[in-house]
Amino acid sequence: MAKGHVLVTGGAGFIGSHLVDLLLARGFEVTVLDCLLEQVHGDAERDAEGWPVYLNPAARRIRGNILDDGVFESALSGITHLAHLAASVGVGQSMTNIVDYTRNNTMAAAIMLEVLSRTEHSVERMTVASSMSIYGEGQYVEAESGRPVMPDMRDHEQLQAHHWELHKDGGTLLPVPTDENKLLQPASIYAVNKRDHEEMFLSVGRALKIPTVALRLFNAYGSRQALSNPYTGVAAIFISRLLNDQPPMIFEDGEQKRDFVHVLDVANAFATVLESDLEVWEACNVGSGQARTVNEIASTLARLLRKNIAPTILNQYRVGDIRHCFADISKLERLFGIRPTQEFEAGMAQLIEWVQTVNRPQDRSQQSLAELTRSRLVV
Ligand SMILES: NC(=O)c1ccc[n+]([C@@H]2O[C@H](COP(=O)([O-])OP(=O)(O)OC[C@H]3O[C@@H](n4cnc5c(N)ncnc54)[C@H](O)[C@@H]3O)[C@@H](O)[C@H]2O)c1
Repeated sequence: MAKGHVLVTGGAGFIGSHLVDLLLARGFEVTVLDCLLEQVHGDAERDAEGWPVYLNPAARRIRGNILDDGVFESALSGITHLAHLAASVGVGQSMTNIVDYTRNNTMAAAIMLEVLSRTEHSVERMTVASSMSIYGEGQYVEAESGRPVMPDMRDHEQLQAHHWELHKDGGTLLPVPTDENKLLQPASIYAVNKRDHEEMFLSVGRALKIPTVALRLFNAYGSRQALSNPYTGVAAIFISRLLNDQPPMIFEDGEQKRDFVHVLDVANAFATVLESDLEVWEACNVGSGQARTVNEIASTLARLLRKNIAPTILNQYRVGDIRHCFADISKLERLFGIRPTQEFEAGMAQLIEWVQTVNRPQDRSQQSLAELTRSRLVV
């Protein structure tokens, strides 16, 4: 007998499709609800009905948009567990397509939660994809005293002078792992949407007594990442540039630190949280727990691809970009016993191996940089 029946919204996407594989392997029945957004799936190899060929054939499929009347409600039939991953995911793009982003992220969550609160259903557990972007800047301490500090976002003046690091009262600040108690300071519409939909799920889940966990994902990487989408994952964008013999384009000086987490570790976090019996309404970080600079990502990928191409350091900044943010992952381990298992270099090598088996992606980075510059979002 199946462990339960999971509805994975956005299940045809990068993270969702890996989660589908893992849930099926762990004995769940799975239904995918996905509208197959063109920007995400346009260049992927697809079957006659438009589904990406990597999607597990053992999952039931519903092609539909959560925003359309009745779609989510009818997809809920027989569902015991919900994993909500569907979203529009471009941080930069969210600053120009504000209505679309807010509709597809925040309103979609509202539609789902209203259906759950008004109708009869069998959902007994929920998990929702949130994002590290809701923190804004990560967590910092004073370099000299080690005292925790709440930094202000960098202002235009500082950034125009190319002073990339954070300072407070004349002192230098050092980044430290960011935990879930950090004040949320979303700096893009995408991040505002993600914060809102995380809080909406947690509050309605609590009211309906459906245990709910929001997973704040750091920078996920791995196979099936949309390579031609200029608005998403930095590893995918760099590979796409390098394969086209173009240098990766790096904002600021490339020394900004992020946390790159393998997609299988992300899928494992979702699946394990769904399997758990813990009655909680919590947000947890999902990261590797390791800080890496963007320069390190570019050089690792160039080396693994055997391309002698140095990145272009743009010395420009994207409005709303943060300097450093990497995860404190202790809460996920404490509550659910989850720890990352994938090693970074091996993970990047697998990503490249996969990229070389798919059609050479079209590089749209120049076009997206031009759009962001036109909208004064890159300075
Ligand atoms: N990839 C990352 O590094 C990362 C980091 C933080 C958070 N997240 C979150 O994780 C989730 C999955 O991200 P991903 O990288 O797999 O993105 P993705 O774009 O590959 O997948 C999203 C999927 O959702 C579908 N979708 C979008 N809107 C929909 C709608 N209204 N109705 C039905 N389907 C819809 C798309 O067609 C796509 O298949 C998102 O919620 C994203 O915000 C991702």
